Amino acid sequence: EKGGYDHFMLKEIHEQPRAIIDTFRGRLLRSEGIIKMSGVEDNMKKLLNADRIIIAACGTSWHAGLVAEYIFEEFARIPVEVEYASEFRYRNPVISEKDVLIAISQSGETADTLAAIKLAKSKGAFVFGVCNVVGSSIARETDAGAYTHAGPEIGVASTKAFTTQITVLALMALRLARAKGTMSSSKYRLYLQEIELIPAKIERLLKVDEKVKEIAEIYQHVPNCLYLGRGFNFPVALEGALKLKEISYIHAEGYPAAEMKHGPIALIDENMPVIVIATDSEHYEKIVSNIQEIKSRKGKIIAIVTEGDHVVKNLADHVIEIPYVEEAFSPLLTTIPLQLLSYHIAVMRGCNVDQPRNLAKSVTVE
Ligand code: F6R
Repeated sequence: EKGGYDHFMLKEIHEQPRAIIDTFRGRLLRSEGIIKMSGVEDNMKKLLNADRIIIAACGTSWHAGLVAEYIFEEFARIPVEVEYASEFRYRNPVISEKDVLIAISQSGETADTLAAIKLAKSKGAFVFGVCNVVGSSIARETDAGAYTHAGPEIGVASTKAFTTQITVLALMALRLARAKGTMSSSKYRLYLQEIELIPAKIERLLKVDEKVKEIAEIYQHVPNCLYLGRGFNFPVALEGALKLKEISYIHAEGYPAAEMKHGPIALIDENMPVIVIATDSEHYEKIVSNIQEIKSRKGKIIAIVTEGDHVVKNLADHVIEIPYVEEAFSPLLTTIPLQLLSYHIAVMRGCNVDQPRNLAKSVTVE
């Protein structure tokens, strides 16, 4: 049932191109230039009139929410707030009928996320769900929604659920951007084309596995790790750190790269590996100077770069290349080598990759 892979996690990492194609099915009609999502079409008025979108989720799904915040604001110019469901539900938050709550959950059973939905509904907000498990409690409790269609995710560490959540939310943001007129039609067409290419690019990217394994070999015994990213890739840094923590039990932290100098830089010495997402972006120069700061303190740099990069390549100790992609969709690619890195390190450390200690696949108690 592991389809020839040693672990479900590795199988599910490799399933991502297929899973994203399944997420597109019936929704991304690229040749017609259309995105069709019934949960969005049927509630277009509510979505377009929303004063803001509140995203509530936990763990990896919360990270997908953070990526969605950047995408929604960029594409559809709707203000977005991303909340830990557990904090939101107990905070007496200010919510009204003019708000839309998007709840993201792979299992559809996370207790805190379910409670956040009930609270938002009681205040009159419209609630949209992004779930993987069909017919789950959250799917049933929400007013409308869109399934990720990633297929069953067995490994406790979430992988394909994360990339398909981002995919669904990106499609939704594109659809709303067109309806609102916040994106030109040429840009919209470009983005449709670009998102359709993602599965093939991931397929190609998965070939970095051997390279990632070599890097894992070198760093498998470290006690700490830092992950840095900016913009769309800041949440990917958080997700990379979470993946490493939960399956290899190495302490890891993710930060927005610019926050380094406000504290974490004190941790840097020759023993500290720093994983930096330094792909083509508006912030490329800034990331380069962050890397220089780390280098001058003798930190070890593992950089995720865009194919053809020269500048970072000369500074970093190791580079992992990803295919070129529009920046807004880059999290769908940059996250892949980070999943593989934590997988290989965990295997080398003899950890139970699919069922890490102390963790459950769905957290149905708070
Ligand atoms: C991380 C992980 C957890 C879940 C979190 C939310 O790999 O598995 O952090 O992402 O418990 O679960 P769902 O998405 O089912 O609500």
